Amino acid sequence: MSTYIAQNVAALQAYTPGEQPQDRGIIKLNTNENPYPPSPQVAAALAAFTAERLRLYPDPNASALRRRIAEIHGCRLEQVFAGNGSDEILALATRAFVENHGSIGYFVPSYSLYPVLADIRGVEKRPVELAPGFTWQMPAAYRASLFLLTTPNAPTSMMYERAAVTSFCRTFDGVVLLDEAYGDFAPDNFMDLALAPHNTNTLVMRTFSKSFSLAGLRLGYVIGPVPLIEALYKIKDSYNLDMLTQVVGLAALNDLEHMRTNTRRIQATRARLSAALAARGYEVLPSATNFLFARPPDGDAKKVFDQLRSQKIFVRYFPGPRTGAYLRITIGTDAEIDALLAVI
Ligand SMILES: Cc1ncc(COP(=O)(O)O)c(C=O)c1O
Repeated sequence: MSTYIAQNVAALQAYTPGEQPQDRGIIKLNTNENPYPPSPQVAAALAAFTAERLRLYPDPNASALRRRIAEIHGCRLEQVFAGNGSDEILALATRAFVENHGSIGYFVPSYSLYPVLADIRGVEKRPVELAPGFTWQMPAAYRASLFLLTTPNAPTSMMYERAAVTSFCRTFDGVVLLDEAYGDFAPDNFMDLALAPHNTNTLVMRTFSKSFSLAGLRLGYVIGPVPLIEALYKIKDSYNLDMLTQVVGLAALNDLEHMRTNTRRIQATRARLSAALAARGYEVLPSATNFLFARPPDGDAKKVFDQLRSQKIFVRYFPGPRTGAYLRITIGTDAEIDALLAVI
């Protein structure tokens, strides 16, 4: 049977998403979702949406949504690509910017989907180990066709130095996609690099899944030079964004203040949890995201993971030499964090 399956797919280690338990009694701090509901304008847009509209295909170019994104970032519509979650955009980037004999680079540890996308595409992987302390390190004369760079990084939660990112984007001979899934929780971001007039190779991507509380919707966008954006448009599915997603996404963008208020609440809870874990002897990495990456005093993160799980509190544990001593804890509501602290 397997002779019908492409070799790279037969050999593929598929990506494992964080668990989505159906049991409602669980405190879910394992997939970096937002604990607060999306804007009331999202609820209003859903309530006003009539089933009759679904008779027609959606706008293939998601123009109204992209126009609003362009307005927010002060760029042209042609510089914006909107996708079915950032994950779709990442997959399209591996097809648009990488030849069959090309390669895909990324830091280790970072978003564990990147190597899987390279394997699906059947191209060479060029991982770069972060320095001790999960800080920036790039070998001299490093090359790849496409570099996928999570900033702030996941699962480490840390920012890189602006100078390192800027200089890398300027000198790298390939496309750099800065994955700012957690950018709204960070003190700084790199959207200016995507919008710089002489930029030819740098894209900045955002998602609605975290700061906008819309992980269930599947919407992300990427901004950058027109030729790169046009390349993504050439290869996307005709109707990659359904009508409901376009309507709801636009409603969320019309209430940025709601997103910002939730973001500030999460940042405050983040500071509280960080201090409480540090007081319990944890090493807590400085977070610019909606999660913490923290090492228990004895380094036995798996034990704490199991302990929390037995109390129906789900966090994320990534086994492996670099990450196995840490837990990744999504910032929940204050009550959820209190429940977590009661167990730890
Ligand atoms: C770094 C990073 N990029 C992208 C994504 C996926 O985002 P989306 O829900 O928009 O596909 C995630 C989700 O956890 C992420 O951590």
